[in-house]
Amino acid sequence: MNKSMFETKQIQPRILYYGTPVVLLNTLNEDESVNISPISSSWALGDHIILGLGLGGKAIENLRRHPECVINLPSPALWANVERLAPYTGKDPVPEYKRATGFSYEKEKFKAGGFTPVESLSVKPSRIGECPIQIEAKVNHIRVTDAFAIVETQALQVHAHPDIVMGENHIDPGKWSPLIYNFRHYFGLGAELGKSFRSET
Ligand SMILES: Cc1cc2nc3c(=O)[nH]c(=O)nc-3n(C[C@H](O)[C@H](O)[C@H](O)COP(=O)(O)O)c2cc1C
Repeated sequence: MNKSMFETKQIQPRILYYGTPVVLLNTLNEDESVNISPISSSWALGDHIILGLGLGGKAIENLRRHPECVINLPSPALWANVERLAPYTGKDPVPEYKRATGFSYEKEKFKAGGFTPVESLSVKPSRIGECPIQIEAKVNHIRVTDAFAIVETQALQVHAHPDIVMGENHIDPGKWSPLIYNFRHYFGLGAELGKSFRSET
């Protein structure tokens, strides 16, 4: 093995967003309108989905008051809509540290992102019609660290656009691509490389 293949360089990156799907997280505001928060810190295990949320944002404030949400998964085609929401927070007043990094208050997130609300079946916050996968979920647990909250949710309903569904209950991985947030740049998936021995499709 060529020794140089194992060479590394020690770096101190400001962020470690190494490529995870973008989620548009819908939560319920105090007046029952809906806030949309773009996030990329999430992972799923079975029907549980864990979210990482900054403590200064509207999403965690809303989830503490009303423990339901919709986890909307945008496709790569929606990246510019996601980015239209990026400079906004539903927090009023805007926390100083957020204002200092260019954030401003926006209540009408559906309008700001160019999205369409669709009523949910099992939770109060509405879904985002344009997102090919929409997961209604309840909050089971919130753990607060010094800097952020780890929110454990459980899926109650999974909605998918018919064109990415295979048979009755599978997402067609050849037709669905998440929108990947890769060190603050947006990407879709490349060509398939292969599949897991547990794949059912
Ligand atoms: C693509 C993308 C990914 C983001 N990922 C996260 C994340 O995982 N967790 C988080 O708290 N904020 C994340 N942010 C920042 C939030 O979107 C930002 O704090 C926003 O103001 C949250 O809105 P809210 O205050 O109305 O909840 C991300 C932003 C973008 C554009």
